[in-house]
Amino acid sequence: MRIIRSRTELATLVAQWRNAGQTIGVVPTMGSLHNGHLALVNALDGQATRRIVTLFVNPIQFNNADDFALYPRGLEADATLLDNTGKVDVLYAPDAAEMYPQGFATRIMVAGLDGMLCGADRPGHFDGVATVVTKLLLQTGADVAAFGEKDYQQLCLIRRLVQDLDLPVRITPVPTVREADGLALSSRNRRLTPQQRQQATYLPEALKTCMADIQHGKPVSACLHACRENLKTHGFDVHYLDLRTGDTLRETPVPVAGARLFVAASLGDIRLIDNMAVA
Ligand code: PAJ
Repeated sequence: MRIIRSRTELATLVAQWRNAGQTIGVVPTMGSLHNGHLALVNALDGQATRRIVTLFVNPIQFNNADDFALYPRGLEADATLLDNTGKVDVLYAPDAAEMYPQGFATRIMVAGLDGMLCGADRPGHFDGVATVVTKLLLQTGADVAAFGEKDYQQLCLIRRLVQDLDLPVRITPVPTVREADGLALSSRNRRLTPQQRQQATYLPEALKTCMADIQHGKPVSACLHACRENLKTHGFDVHYLDLRTGDTLRETPVPVAGARLFVAASLGDIRLIDNMAVA
């Protein structure tokens, strides 16, 4: 596996691959890799002849300087993990100056999908995601790219921007990979204290209970209220808990086909998100 840090070096390699008739699969990440990321790498099996994983902790999608500074980083461990899969040709890890050279001034904004859920209290976050993902897809010449359902709003937004900007990329969604106790794998989990890690189990449990209640026909607003109160009792600061449609992410008072439960809740200063399909 090659580690490439420069855009031009990547462009040269991608051009060579294209000339040789290769197809390119890409997994964009911010590093601190875990089995969720590896599931994305595996999801590209048979979909492309070359695989690139990108690793870039994108400063413009963080609206909190501490969150950016504290985001876990470890290029060597990530490179080893990817190399050991035997499936990755290139780890593309540009630095911020390479991605956003002096004078960089453009933002991609996906209207309508960016203002609710994780966008409501993180202004500019999804513009930062949309901008960097567009750049990464173009830089890597991706034919196909994998994104996790763990970040379901991000997945919807990327599908929208690929369609709207006529990017010739197929998006492959990958189901959320969880720990044995149900907690969705996340790079942020490493920052949980042992006690918070135990508490965190309650997040997917509460979602599952809420999902079952809704499926049994209980009124959605009562289910959401009970779930929110439960999470508070278990020490969570709940940012949102909504039932929404699975494509446009509109709030829905009934479990229409494709509807999902979405939650963001913090333990201390660590924000966890999760979502599950209800219908
Ligand atoms: P990051 O949080 O590193 O996630 C990279 C990809 O891994 C995303 O598509 C995310 O949904 C997926 N992923 C993370 N945890 C997962 C899990 N438990 N199961 C399945 N997939 C999981 O998301 C980002 O980085 C950034 O916003 C990025 C798209 C790279 C743009 O900077």
